[in-house]
Amino acid sequence: MLIRCLRIQGFRRFEEVELLLQPGFNLITGDNGSGKTTVLEALHLLAHGRSFRGRVRDGLVRQGDPALQVYVEWSQPDRPLRRAGLRHTGSAWGARLDGVDVQQLSQLCEALAVVSFEPGSHTLVDGGSEGRRRYLDWGLFHVEHGFMPQWRRYARALKQRNALLRQASGKAQLDAWEHELAQSGEALTQQRELYLSDLQRHLARLLPDLLPAAGTVELSLQPGWRRQDFALADALLLGRDRDLALGHTSVGPHRADVKFVLRDLPGREGLSRGQAKQLALSLLLAQAAHLADVMGHWPVLQFDDLGSELDRHHQRLALDVLAASGAQIVVTGTEPLPGLDAVAASVARFHVEHAHAQLLA
Ligand SMILES: Nc1ncnc2c1ncn2[C@@H]1O[C@H](COP(=O)(O)OP(=O)(O)OP(=O)(O)O)[C@@H](O)[C@H]1O
Ligand SMILES: [Mg+2]
Repeated sequence: MLIRCLRIQGFRRFEEVELLLQPGFNLITGDNGSGKTTVLEALHLLAHGRSFRGRVRDGLVRQGDPALQVYVEWSQPDRPLRRAGLRHTGSAWGARLDGVDVQQLSQLCEALAVVSFEPGSHTLVDGGSEGRRRYLDWGLFHVEHGFMPQWRRYARALKQRNALLRQASGKAQLDAWEHELAQSGEALTQQRELYLSDLQRHLARLLPDLLPAAGTVELSLQPGWRRQDFALADALLLGRDRDLALGHTSVGPHRADVKFVLRDLPGREGLSRGQAKQLALSLLLAQAAHLADVMGHWPVLQFDDLGSELDRHHQRLALDVLAASGAQIVVTGTEPLPGLDAVAASVARFHVEHAHAQLLA
């Protein structure tokens, strides 16, 4: 997909800014605090329904403004120009997609595929399991139409069971919701497992180019319960007394995680911060490549401050992979990125200053 126009209003320091993005590489430069990350954050918010740094109510709306707005126009193969807009006050939102009001933010997420790599992305590798579940489920959401209904079913059943646990309700009600939880949870887990094996193929192909020191990689799902010993229904039943004492459900796919084993590097805890970043980048690009395979076109790829996130050597490796992809790419940095001109046929350059963005000739 190809973003043509991105307009941001009332977002952090931007009163209003518009960028007409180009195919291939788009480089946004500017001083610290000029608003480079905010540009990527705005597109990420529209495409994911959340920011990668903080909640909307925690200060994304420009001081003194009633709401932020993000509007985007994009094209994709075999479709007329598409458009989406989001308005958020910090507590309430409204959105439109192709001229029609949107009921759920997931409709925007479904339409717009954007993958972002930013200074916090290493937590995908060395942070808590929630980020890895989100990563997994975001990819599944885009490639597997049956995933979202199953996920919603599971989330609803989980909420009900947790409420019943806290009320110490009767056995019959718990039985009913556990049945629902187990059915949707097993289906969810199967989908996650299949998706991981697809990701594994893409990651195995990309890793020698992006993180050669890793050797090979094995991805595996930790489903969130002892699946080798029990069906989820049995694990829930066995854990019921403990869960009644805890007041929440302690086993199931909401506790799942992704494990990776690298042949020539240590596990999660032993990786350097830079290696965790490189692996996170590899995981994100594997996901994007898989999406491109399934959808027939690449998601938009965003890289915040790539120049200071990776050393020169690994930057060059990443840029080679990006240039070969043919995806639309937005990169930010305080300085022009060394090596970019060597890999990219053309680069659209923007400069952000005093909360304005300008396309450089
Ligand atoms: N709610 C807000 N209202 C007004 N200004 C804000 C608000 N939130 C953040 N800002 C300002 O907006 C700017 C955000 O900058 P951003 O993080 O996008 O800059 P950057 O160009 O990525 O900087 P760096 O190079 O340091 O990463 C900062 O100057 C910050 O002080
Ligand atoms: Mg920044």
